[in-house]
Amino acid sequence: MKLEEVKGVGPSVARRLRAAGFINVETVAATPAKELMIKADYKKLGPALKIVAAAREALGNAFISAWDIYQMTKNRLKCTTGSSALDALLGGGVESQTITEFTGKYGSGKTQICHSLAVTAQLKPEKGGLGGQVLFFDTEGTFSSERAYQIACKNGLDPEDSLNNITLSRAYTSDHQTFLLDHAFKLCAEQNIRLVIVDSAISHFRGEYVGRESLSERQQKLNSYLHKLSRLAQIYNLAAVITNQAIDRPVASYVPTPFLGDPTGGNIIAHASNTRVWLRRAKPKRSTRVARIMASSNLPEGECVFRITGRGIEDVEDYQPTENTIEMEETTA
Ligand SMILES: Nc1ncnc2c1ncn2[C@@H]1O[C@H](COP(=O)(O)OP(=O)(O)O)[C@@H](O)[C@H]1O
Ligand SMILES: [Mg+2]
Repeated sequence: MKLEEVKGVGPSVARRLRAAGFINVETVAATPAKELMIKADYKKLGPALKIVAAAREALGNAFISAWDIYQMTKNRLKCTTGSSALDALLGGGVESQTITEFTGKYGSGKTQICHSLAVTAQLKPEKGGLGGQVLFFDTEGTFSSERAYQIACKNGLDPEDSLNNITLSRAYTSDHQTFLLDHAFKLCAEQNIRLVIVDSAISHFRGEYVGRESLSERQQKLNSYLHKLSRLAQIYNLAAVITNQAIDRPVASYVPTPFLGDPTGGNIIAHASNTRVWLRRAKPKRSTRVARIMASSNLPEGECVFRITGRGIEDVEDYQPTENTIEMEETTA
């Protein structure tokens, strides 16, 4: 919906909003007034409040029936990971309008899943993809164009086209990461981006806000970042995938659980992600991984195995599950 369609927004206000990155009514409606005030350079909160309220009214969705929401969820698209077992665990694949979080220890396969998805998202919907482009935020410097090239070739895609369909954005600090996400709203309006990846979502926040005294500030900023990502996913009907490191669980606080470690980021990340998947290495083959739904708003508990191969992520045909899956966990990567 065009900005000029909002009551009280004339050409000059629309220009000002566009210059600040608010390219349509949906983006304005989904932004806190204070943020709009700062970005669009208003001196007072009043005008920003009016604009945001008018945008929300123009969209007319402040109160919406559960049935209408259900209809919106029916527009959700699913993207294959490359492994049908992992897709089944995820209820058909990584879903648009939501945040899917992959967590696990170092080497558990988080970045590999991101690379696989960056390619599979480009496949046509009839082949399990989203038929679109990908925005990849790399915060740890672990994106590998060679790996993406390899996965594209093995999936029968033209590697040059495929790599051109992945827009890479390297974030150097948490502020920079947030700034880049703001910019993504504009990019997603201009391009057919169907998947946004943040690998990893939290490492800068963890590295910069150290110690108890800065914990609440970190959580506040992380919370605002994840809400923004969630809005982006909803506005543009795209899938958001984040990764999150896990830390070893101190032995003293050990309580029986299938997860021998804890994702970082506390409740903020847990609440923001619609589906949290725990990854771990599995014996006996080192390329085999186990994925387990750790928490989800709509999926049952469950587990599956997949493999990391030249093609990205694949099924394990000859896998024999053991009785006690916990035994398969390795405490060190
Ligand atoms: N081309 C490949 N073929 C098979 N396995 C690979 C390939 N590239 C990387 N891997 C495996 O992926 C693992 C690293 O996973 P990664 O996703 O980087 O972990 P993290 O969870 O720390 O992000 C390593 O065990 C490595 O052997
Ligand atoms: Mg990684």
